[in-house]
Amino acid sequence: MTQDTRFMPRIARRMAGAQASEIRELLKLAEAPGVISFGGGIPDPALFPVQEMSQALTDVLADPVTGPQALQYSVSEGDPALRAWIAAYLTDSGAPCTADNILVTTGAQQALDFLGRLLIDRGDTVLTQWPTYLGALQAFAPNGPRYGDLGGANWMAQGAGADPTAFAYVVPDFANPTGATMDAVARERLLDLAHARDLPVIEDSPYAALRFEGQPERSLLARDIDRVGRIDASRVIQLGSFSKILSPGLRVGWVAASQEIIGRLVLMKQAADLNASRLTQMAVLRVAERGMTARIDRACQSYRQKRDAMMDALSRHMPEGVTWNRPDGGMFLWLTLPTWADAAAILPRAIEAGVAYVPGAAFYPDRSTANCLRLSYSLPSPEAIETGIARLGAVLAQEKP
Ligand SMILES: Cc1ncc(COP(=O)(O)O)c(C=O)c1O
Repeated sequence: MTQDTRFMPRIARRMAGAQASEIRELLKLAEAPGVISFGGGIPDPALFPVQEMSQALTDVLADPVTGPQALQYSVSEGDPALRAWIAAYLTDSGAPCTADNILVTTGAQQALDFLGRLLIDRGDTVLTQWPTYLGALQAFAPNGPRYGDLGGANWMAQGAGADPTAFAYVVPDFANPTGATMDAVARERLLDLAHARDLPVIEDSPYAALRFEGQPERSLLARDIDRVGRIDASRVIQLGSFSKILSPGLRVGWVAASQEIIGRLVLMKQAADLNASRLTQMAVLRVAERGMTARIDRACQSYRQKRDAMMDALSRHMPEGVTWNRPDGGMFLWLTLPTWADAAAILPRAIEAGVAYVPGAAFYPDRSTANCLRLSYSLPSPEAIETGIARLGAVLAQEKP
């Protein structure tokens, strides 16, 4: 009798297309010593509140009331005090709401999974920016959407074909992957579309607080509340996260939306994992209450310095024909190569030369555009940024049509 060493069951149709991408495999090579990676959108661990979290966890557990609460099951909506803090934070930023409008999720990523399952029927159109956040495309994929391009020339008609449109999804502030921010006109236009077509808008905004230049743009949620009077009538579902302003390892994010939508999502949260860790939520609240502003300012200072180092290095090392944008915040910028170039094909040569990035095609719903790539400046030091961009410039200068 032969012994099989591996077992693979039949995979449900909705998950059959989900595969690890070859890019992911290549980026593993980018972790080799000596390779400077502009690949992952990874916060700088030097900014993590290690001491503060340690103290907060001790305080929560040492308290005779909160200690046992922290270690017990709790409500699926999330820790009531943390929800109240998030609601106050959003109210301060111009989007009045209460704790009843907040669901705490395991990162914003979990909210993307829930919203895909809640709102997309197979074949529905989802309107996004092209390129857009790869994790959203992955979260929506099992539900079988088609995609329309919000940047398309005839934007009002986007997704107005035979298939129903499920929602519009945008990362309006310092987008992953491009670092671009929607201006006021684009935001109002998107809300016009949402109202004209009666569509929900998912505003995924984990980077909004990381603005280190220019004036903040009012959020889509705040603007829609201006239009309709209150969050419970709003079409906007806003996703937030502590990942980029405290630490991603906490896995604490949230959804802010009408109570109707929150009610639906709470049922999904219950089915998915009952509740987010209350211990973590209670500790996050303590750290947040001790002052987010100074913490965010420090992150902005650090990322600004790194953005500047990258802009400076790009201007000195990139060959003719390569262009890029200048983000006012966040962690990313977008590099466009000459139209004949394929960033995925170049990546192995770049890794060989000791530098890595994410090829841009993966961020397009149809993977159509090959001559672009994402650079993240959040993790390497300014010195490493200079060296890495010099290496990338040398690799790109070798490429020929
Ligand atoms: C646009 C966007 N949305 C959501 C997420 C997921 O964040 P979280 O860590 O809160 O799950 C990310 C993470 O990189 C992101 O870039």
